[in-house]
Amino acid sequence: MGKTAVFGSFVVDLMARSPHLPVPKETVKGSMFRMGPGGKGFNQCVAAHKAGADVIMMTKLGRDTFANVALDTMTELGMPKDHLFYSDETGTGIALILVDEGTSENEIIIVPGACGTITAAEVESVESVIKDCEYVLLQLEINQDANEMVAELCKKHGVKMIVNTAPYSPVSDAFLSKAWMVTPNEIEAEELTGVKVTDLDSAKAAAQVFYKKGVQKVIITLGGKGVFVSSDGREEIVPANHVQVVDTTGAGDAFNGGLLCALAEGKDIWEATRFAQALAALSVQKIGTTPSMPTRAEIDAFLK
Ligand code: ATP
Ligand code: RIB
Repeated sequence: MGKTAVFGSFVVDLMARSPHLPVPKETVKGSMFRMGPGGKGFNQCVAAHKAGADVIMMTKLGRDTFANVALDTMTELGMPKDHLFYSDETGTGIALILVDEGTSENEIIIVPGACGTITAAEVESVESVIKDCEYVLLQLEINQDANEMVAELCKKHGVKMIVNTAPYSPVSDAFLSKAWMVTPNEIEAEELTGVKVTDLDSAKAAAQVFYKKGVQKVIITLGGKGVFVSSDGREEIVPANHVQVVDTTGAGDAFNGGLLCALAEGKDIWEATRFAQALAALSVQKIGTTPSMPTRAEIDAFLK
């Protein structure tokens, strides 16, 4: 099992479910509120950890009670807490998540807070940890200059960098060129390549744009349709599992965490995709983000 790390966001998710999503100026009475751990980085790390990966979380918290939401979760799950940074000035980030309880459609506002203020010195302080990893997984929720520095360290030490390009924000070609693999969803793939992904041919065209930028492997997640995988000349859409969907928030995070774990276990990209889609399918059957990530026993049972 190779060592891995997730360098990314932690925020506290403030989630409300309601019969429909409010339009501007509308107030809607909700049916449920939950507060809990979230942030794409943290969700992905928890997914990988619960699936059995040897994974380290690197993120930045405030010195406030919201930071305890991360720390308590990590203690409960037995996750290493040695590479967390703290801000004296900026509070722990939050995300406001609205979920339509009928359609499972969501709207999210994320305020990165402390995890958007990671300094060069903090990235440098974890160089030895990054150097020891086989894979490092990034997202686009933290300050991008920190991501750029991590990418540089991955390149320097020959570490395979996986970039989940979510949520979309513009990134430099120099940054993308250091990615071993990118895992956009359809919308991010279109924003990054200019190709609207609607089917196998358009997904192949988008992958070509990523290859021209220097990326080596491309996976585009397609929601309930599954994922497009492009690796070593083989390009296919692998269908999603048919399950009873309750809340798709964090499905992409379950997928990316599962993928990280499976690749570190030595599975090939096709087997890793099957494993990662099992995590995603299990997560959409539960409400919430971090709390919806399945255990290894649940994943193995699902795959059987
Ligand atoms: P999010 O931002 O909500 O976390 P995403 O846009 O990053 O999601 P998606 O492409 O929506 O990611 O979903 C990721 C994976 O989750 C899919 O490739 C699929 O395996 C699984 N998934 C998503 N929606 C469904 C669904 N309705 N049924 C089964 N599997 C699903
Ligand atoms: O992908 C889901 C995550 O995106 C949520 O946990 C929320 O924190 C947002 O960042």
